[in-house]
Amino acid sequence: MSNTMWGGRFNSGPDAIMEEINASIDFDKALWRQDIRGSKAHVAMLAKQGIVTSADAKAITDGLSAVHAEIEAGEFTFSRSLEDIHMNVESRLAEIVGPAAGRLHTARSRNDQVATDMRLWVRDTVDALDAQLADLQGALAEKALAHAGAVMPGFTHLQSAQPTTFGHHLLAYVEMLGRDRGRFADARRRMNECPLGAAALAGTSFPIDRRTTAEALGFDRPTANSLDSVSDRDFALEALAAASICAVHLSRFAEEIVLWTTPQFGLVRLSDKFTSGSSIMPQKRNPDAAELVRGKTGRVIGALTALLVVIKGLPMSYAKDMQEDKEGVFDALQTLSLCIAAMAGMVRDMEPELKTMKKAAGLGYATATDLADWLVRTLKMPFRQAHHVTGRIVGLASDNGVGLEKLSLAEMQAVEPAITQDVFAVLGVERSVRSRVSYGGTAPVEVKKQARRWLAKLAQEAAAPAR
Ligand code: ARG
Repeated sequence: MSNTMWGGRFNSGPDAIMEEINASIDFDKALWRQDIRGSKAHVAMLAKQGIVTSADAKAITDGLSAVHAEIEAGEFTFSRSLEDIHMNVESRLAEIVGPAAGRLHTARSRNDQVATDMRLWVRDTVDALDAQLADLQGALAEKALAHAGAVMPGFTHLQSAQPTTFGHHLLAYVEMLGRDRGRFADARRRMNECPLGAAALAGTSFPIDRRTTAEALGFDRPTANSLDSVSDRDFALEALAAASICAVHLSRFAEEIVLWTTPQFGLVRLSDKFTSGSSIMPQKRNPDAAELVRGKTGRVIGALTALLVVIKGLPMSYAKDMQEDKEGVFDALQTLSLCIAAMAGMVRDMEPELKTMKKAAGLGYATATDLADWLVRTLKMPFRQAHHVTGRIVGLASDNGVGLEKLSLAEMQAVEPAITQDVFAVLGVERSVRSRVSYGGTAPVEVKKQARRWLAKLAQEAAAPAR
């Protein structure tokens, strides 16, 4: 049997393989809420413009509510022979409402319908992600405030560099997530135009009012070019790009958690809730959640790459290739959501191992820069010369197999006679972090300031949401 929705000129139904490759209902049923919402806005506009009678509009609207209730209750039978969510909903609507249901698709095409549904879905999801990211920032900033003075090793090249604090380190991620939220917000702004009414590609001869539907669906305005409206998916690409960068940030943090929790580092302890045991090695506490956050990043980046490739060769305007936007977008954004939730859980439960951190902070001559700075400040030495002198003192300590603070004054004076006993004061890790008071630096007073600034900002956002 040919398709009841578009089969007028067809004598036979599709081959089984055609149905298999063509049907998207298995995944695009995720759009059901957005699809019904869009249809309600469309039919209300059709009635307002006198394109359908208000009686038909009411019957269609009530019918759509009935379909909504059926899907929500899990009582709806999705059918592959009806291809996609749009035709599944409309076909059921026809069963409920009768022939009037056929008027819903006036001045509309599945091309503008799916573009609208996808924008609504991505927009809803981006809003939910933003709230989750704010929650994760809050968890990080709280932890940072609590541990603003917890001295830990700071690395460059993953080699001991200078002492820093746990709070300072966590706030670095708060900043990154803040920019991630900014990228999602930018994408949202550009995405928030309504394609509905572009119809198949060229617009429609019916006297529709696209501003009305745009407004009803919470869009800022209708899209301005009907071809562009049905043919681009850059809104999805932007969301995936923002998601990929965010996932990369989470992945870097996840990698650090994996390193920190390994006994050879032992800087942090995760709770039992976010670790798992080994089936053979009884001592193990594996940071599986962190590993999975790191691993799932591949799927998010993969979805971005896949959609870029899908779109790159498409001539104007709609092509069925674009149906391939969905699984990647759904999977990537839902995966990111899960990763953010897992990260927030880990952060709330994680505890720094303060003693180990502090000890590790001094390893690898981490206060060598403090020594060089002391030579500059106290002996008025040019920094380059101070760097050289300090290098020789570090070499001496290394030959003797001791830390800088364990050298005697006489040993230091053998390298630079003007050094005095005072130098030992700057070689401690606590003193080192306390001294780095430049704006955004690692000094606990500065870290506290920044943590409080974020917490206040987040509280303010929560009290007065942007949307
Ligand atoms: N399921 C389709 C998609 O996701 C809906 C649009 C179909 N349009 C068409 N002309 N066949 O892209």
